[in-house]
Amino acid sequence: MKKHIVILSGAGVSAESGIKTFRDSDGLWENHDVMQVASINGWLQNPSLVIDFYNQRRKELSHAQPNKAHKLIAELESYSQVSVITQNVDNLHELAGSSNVLHLHGELTKARSTHDDNYIIDIGYDEITIGSTCPKGYQLRPHIVWFGESVPLMETAIEITSTADAMIIIGTSLQVYPAASLTHYTKPGTPIYLIDPQPTIDNSAQVEVIAKTASEGMQDLFLRAGKGLWE
Ligand code: OAD
Repeated sequence: MKKHIVILSGAGVSAESGIKTFRDSDGLWENHDVMQVASINGWLQNPSLVIDFYNQRRKELSHAQPNKAHKLIAELESYSQVSVITQNVDNLHELAGSSNVLHLHGELTKARSTHDDNYIIDIGYDEITIGSTCPKGYQLRPHIVWFGESVPLMETAIEITSTADAMIIIGTSLQVYPAASLTHYTKPGTPIYLIDPQPTIDNSAQVEVIAKTASEGMQDLFLRAGKGLWE
């Protein structure tokens, strides 16, 4: 039976595609107030500012391509059952060919009704404007999980993680909960690899830290771990 590899990715996996991370120097939260642009209170106070912020992110994404790390993660599907749980709102895992991607924090290329959480539409790289509405006439908002909102796909992510044979955490500072708590839901003894040039956790009995960029770290894992890890 194929092994089940669970990837937990964050902004760092897309850094080599030219997408800014949040908490690195020159990251997004250095130049934007997170509570103004990425919280439910920010939205209620100034929806235009929030819409502009995500319109910029969508425009930036329209020029981005998946990098080597996204591609190697997709290639893993030749050997293993792979589940990607990403905190990223970009679509670069999908563009690289990953077929099983769960977006914990939402998706930039979708909008949803402020009146009905189940009314979600694909908008591609188009802008949302004040006045873009759902068929019932309610304002559309970015399909993003903001600070102050619950994470609807967390239960599903926990279920997926609990059946992992190995977990690869890649490009996340593990500062944001509940996403960061997913590491606690692996079965005892499940190996965890953490790829990050500036890792926020240390090696331990369960965790092996690979202090490299996403693409270098994934290449390392491919070369070093070989079939034992994947098959
Ligand atoms: P962060 O910006 O907090 O962390 C990015 C991580 O990527 C850091 O640990 C960096 O060291 C690492 N990194 C930088 N360049 C890298 C590279 N080339 N290869 C690999 N890693 C690299 O981003 P996240 O942990 O994803 O949520 O942030 C989590 C959540 O906080 C986001 O989903 C977002 C944000 O606020 C919302 O907006 C709701």
